[in-house]
Amino acid sequence: MEAKALILAAGAGTRMKSNKPKVAHEMLGKPLVRWVVDAAHAAGCSDAHVVIGHGREQVEPLLDDCVIAYQLEMLGTGHTVMCAADTFEGYQGCIVVLCGDTPLIRPSTIRQLIEAHEKNGAAATVLTMKPENPFGYGRIVRDTQGNVAGIVEEKDCTPEQKLIDECNSGIFCFNAPDLLGNLDKLDRNNAQGEYYLTDMLAILAQTGRVVSSMVVEDNDECLGINSRGQLAAATKVAQRRINDQLMADGITMLDPELVWVGPDVRVGNDTELLPLTMLIGKTSIGTGCVIGPNTRLTDCTVGNNCSFEEVVGIEIQAEDSISAGPRAYLRPGTHLCENAHVGTHVEIKKSTIGKGSKVPHLSYIGDCTMGENVNIGAGSITCNYDGVNKNKTVIGDNSFIGSDTMMVAPVTLGANTVTGASSCITQDIPDGALAIERSKQVNIEGWSQRHMDKLREKERADS
Ligand code: UD1
Ligand code: CA
Repeated sequence: MEAKALILAAGAGTRMKSNKPKVAHEMLGKPLVRWVVDAAHAAGCSDAHVVIGHGREQVEPLLDDCVIAYQLEMLGTGHTVMCAADTFEGYQGCIVVLCGDTPLIRPSTIRQLIEAHEKNGAAATVLTMKPENPFGYGRIVRDTQGNVAGIVEEKDCTPEQKLIDECNSGIFCFNAPDLLGNLDKLDRNNAQGEYYLTDMLAILAQTGRVVSSMVVEDNDECLGINSRGQLAAATKVAQRRINDQLMADGITMLDPELVWVGPDVRVGNDTELLPLTMLIGKTSIGTGCVIGPNTRLTDCTVGNNCSFEEVVGIEIQAEDSISAGPRAYLRPGTHLCENAHVGTHVEIKKSTIGKGSKVPHLSYIGDCTMGENVNIGAGSITCNYDGVNKNKTVIGDNSFIGSDTMMVAPVTLGANTVTGASSCITQDIPDGALAIERSKQVNIEGWSQRHMDKLREKERADS
């Protein structure tokens, strides 16, 4: 049976005390609602329909692959579904209801829920859990045969119902016609005056339809995020899950508590991740690398056998056998070709560093195309910005740039060129030439002694 996801993500998340809607908050660099959408897709749902409301201008741009519906008044989870009903017009498959603030749900669990639902020929299947403390959750009420009769919200529970330990995770699978065809039966006659989606189970059970359930094995999957504390707790769970998998796949970690890897990152085996390393976004790291300590790479592609120590990298491409750091800042558009070296206190932006070329110390290289086997002396800088435009520097193969060379762009240094230390290069240099731009040095013999004598004489006169 075809399955589509319906993700409830319109709530404000008041307890986050944030200007940002709750589902746009990130866990390991990925917005909460994206975790849920991606889990639904990975579980085989053909579409994700997301209901947004609070801060929707911040949430909608995260959901370009989703069907969007709006809930502008928060009248409860039943109302949320009503707001999306039109987007399922004519659909006969099943609808998996997920919450935008429950990012740890596994695709395999969603899959199992759909399979159990189909196997039981159910109209609705609820994913239940038995948390240590059921306070605040809807309780699963069963009839004398043990079938699900309905769900009662905490605020509507009798004292006996409060003792029920099986709770609603907030995740369901419904047959679309059963769900959508009965929405008009939901009412607001309850403690919170809301349309409860949970009432749908009793409505279906009372009309003789099969309502079934599946207990989640790992309660962590149903952790909802309502506060910053819960966000940190869920992040810990996600971090452990991802790092355990990475270690199982052959990645070494000195301390997995101190490594944060996003869910869409790939790391090759025999790579070592050292403490305070964060790999975020669509980053991919090859095999045999040493990354960290103290390194953050966002949307970077790194080849094999690279070493990155104390590096911040954003949208860079590094080929094989690159060493970078300690303390390098590699900005978008940086392309490091095989065997290149970027050393300490070096910043690179929108530049290609050719095969085997080295930028070892204290340099800024921006808007530069550098050939192969170039050596950049300490403190050399491409002066790429004239206050209005960014200009290009080109450096040919095998060139040797003396320390403290200023390359005032636009400028082209040919192949096999050499610059004298401290030269300010404002004109192109032809292939094979030495360029030297500095005033002649003057040595004044005996000056120091004469100077000291003069100072002592003045001291005597003053006393
Ligand atoms: C809900 C369930 C409860 C379950 C719990 C699990 C209902 C009535 N209750 O309670 O049985 O144990 O989840 O966490 O469904 N939302 C909207 N619009 C609304 C209201 C909610 O989009 O008008 C979204 C929220 O953003 C959230 C989700 O629906 O993602 C759940 O809403 P929430 O208010 O957190 O539900 P609970 O009261 O916790
Ligand atoms: Ca509520």
